[in-house]
Amino acid sequence: MRKIFLVLLITLLTAPLVRSDEGMWIPILIEKFNIEIMQEKGFKLSAEDIYSVNRACMKDAVMIFGGGCTAELISPEGLLITNHHCGYSRIQSHSTLEHDYLTDGFWAMSREEELSNPGLTVTFLKYMKDVTDEATRGVKKRMSEDERSEVIENNIAEIVAGATEGNDYSAFVRPFYMGNQFFLFVNETYRDVRLVGAPPSAIGKFGGDTDNWMWPRHTGDFSLFRIYADKNNEPADYSEDNVPYEPEYHFPISLKGVEEGDFTMVFGYPGGTSQYVPSYHISMLTDYVYPRMIELRGAKLDIIKEAMNSDPGIRIKYSSKAAGISNSWKRWIGEKSGMERLGTIEKKLSFEDDFRNWVDQKRKRSKAYGDILSEYKVLYDSMKEYYLVNSYSTETLGRRGVEAISLAGTFMPLVNAVNNGADEETLQGILDRLSSRLQRFFRNYDRDTDRELFVAMMELYGQNMDEKWQIDAYKELYKACNGNFEMIADDIYSRSVFTDRDKSMQFVNNFDKRLMGQLEADPLYKLAAGVSEMLQGTVREKYIELGSQISMLDRLYMKAQLEFADDEVLWPDANFTLRVAYGEVGGYEPEDGVYYTHYTTLEGIMEKDNPEIYDYDVPDRLKELFYGKDYGRYAQDGKMPVCFIADNHTTGGNSGSPVINAEGHLIGVNFDRAWEGVSSDLMFNPEQSRNISLDIRYALFLIDKFAGAGYLIDEMTLVE
Ligand code: ARG
Ligand code: ASP
Repeated sequence: MRKIFLVLLITLLTAPLVRSDEGMWIPILIEKFNIEIMQEKGFKLSAEDIYSVNRACMKDAVMIFGGGCTAELISPEGLLITNHHCGYSRIQSHSTLEHDYLTDGFWAMSREEELSNPGLTVTFLKYMKDVTDEATRGVKKRMSEDERSEVIENNIAEIVAGATEGNDYSAFVRPFYMGNQFFLFVNETYRDVRLVGAPPSAIGKFGGDTDNWMWPRHTGDFSLFRIYADKNNEPADYSEDNVPYEPEYHFPISLKGVEEGDFTMVFGYPGGTSQYVPSYHISMLTDYVYPRMIELRGAKLDIIKEAMNSDPGIRIKYSSKAAGISNSWKRWIGEKSGMERLGTIEKKLSFEDDFRNWVDQKRKRSKAYGDILSEYKVLYDSMKEYYLVNSYSTETLGRRGVEAISLAGTFMPLVNAVNNGADEETLQGILDRLSSRLQRFFRNYDRDTDRELFVAMMELYGQNMDEKWQIDAYKELYKACNGNFEMIADDIYSRSVFTDRDKSMQFVNNFDKRLMGQLEADPLYKLAAGVSEMLQGTVREKYIELGSQISMLDRLYMKAQLEFADDEVLWPDANFTLRVAYGEVGGYEPEDGVYYTHYTTLEGIMEKDNPEIYDYDVPDRLKELFYGKDYGRYAQDGKMPVCFIADNHTTGGNSGSPVINAEGHLIGVNFDRAWEGVSSDLMFNPEQSRNISLDIRYALFLIDKFAGAGYLIDEMTLVE
């Protein structure tokens, strides 16, 4: 008896304690912290099957896609799958009113028809390594924060140089646990990535921004691309001579389907979470920043959506921009209401009480950690104002605000160069860059829509920015029209060079220093320059100062939380590095008395069908397949599965990530989270936090039956 007890005690002491299903884990530490739990939950493979440097494994088939998504390889010939919304801007860039691939979809019926995408890359992780000791070598306890950063930066530069010497890889070192640990990542990037297929938006974006962040969901959110390499299978710029990339590994695809309770794993690139922040951070967001930002973006969206509905040309131009603005806007609303409902602040406050008690128990602790929370309070009291001024100015009159103003802002380097007496060559370089920017800008610009945005943004800025933060250029205009911006908008928009393609092109092509006066007198330029000056000046200084004090405290607080957690293993906040999340397929209760099942089917698409609404207008071909029950081998119980949910902990960046079953086969492509648990970036709620995946069988059905591109299925590895 005693012996059994002892054995039990020892296993309890040695087995890492990991909170079930929460967390985004580090691939090289799966073996140490997670694999046992994963196997208990049903996973049949080993940690080496997920990540290894000695042999082909899953990590060789997972990539960063473009700037902020994940993709995975599904054939030995470089074919990859990601989300429709991840390929969206590329699909849009090939779309015109004549070839509207956004609306009609696009399917290359041969390799020759695949479309190249200048600038699009995919990045593989070659290996990663804990470099905490090397990165912090020479750091002394009594160093100032600046000295510490300098030492670490120098160390990192050395580590990176070592890792990239004699190869074509790129490398970076990233802090984990708020700077308490450092990992090196060595990557390889492929630069010739071609569009292979995308369903029409009526499928790939079915439900649009209305269904976004929601369950039940029926979005066929996928697109297909192919990686090309040179003859040696190495990365190369686009060339007709390039050949399909031959990967070390690609995911076999399961046709077996998913059941409630099944093991699932998501392997991808979560962008960022804030799991360990103090309550002050949460209240800054929910009480102070979000309400205003939500109102602001709501106003933008009202204007843009109305314009899109009134004109198909404007729809093409603004669809990508609108999706971007709407996505965070809606997430903020969901996070705010979720955190209020879950009492996130109260939970944090009670954690902070426990933490204080623990700190007070020992003199040494209280010396090291005793002031953390009170210092946070002081810092956040100032920070919230600067945070808001920065975000609000940027979103109204700055870089992400009224488009003509943000375009005007890109002329500032030209003005500075002239004022600083730059030579002809430098000037020409700037003018060339401006000229190509103008081409891109005006392709997706509608002056009337932007004029309306101008009026709305000027009004909101006046209402919400405290007078002490309002820039002079704004006050001047306000005075001139007595706050009635509608009155002056036409005049400003017809006079400015930034609202007209030809005028601005002419300005750049025939640039002459004598035109500087005209530029500097342009009211839109004045607004752009004014905001930039303010944000780059006092605001930035204070923002950086407070930010660096907060991150110093974050590091200390994280260190203390790791100690406080004792045996429990804490996962490090997401930082757009490769992570593993695991859990199980399952529905949830969104509210009392209601249960959502774990999957949706094509029946639900037909229920939502509404030809009057762009986002719910089911294509005829899909209806035909539905009525004919022409599902091939992709159906389950006579129905066509569309999406499913599970409790894998995911966030932005995980879009496009492979969703993998117990055998390591691909069962879905991750693309979203469900509304009630969307605040999981700040606090995961096992009862309601769910990731939403496209059922891979729906993608196969669409490729095969809807698009008639069965030749693509032939190159995949299907497991029946
Ligand atoms: N919410 C998902 C994510 O954050 C999907 C966004 C794209 N879809 C959309 N309707 N805007 O990326
Ligand atoms: N939709 C997100 C993405 O694009 C995923 C998420 O936030 O759950 O990465």
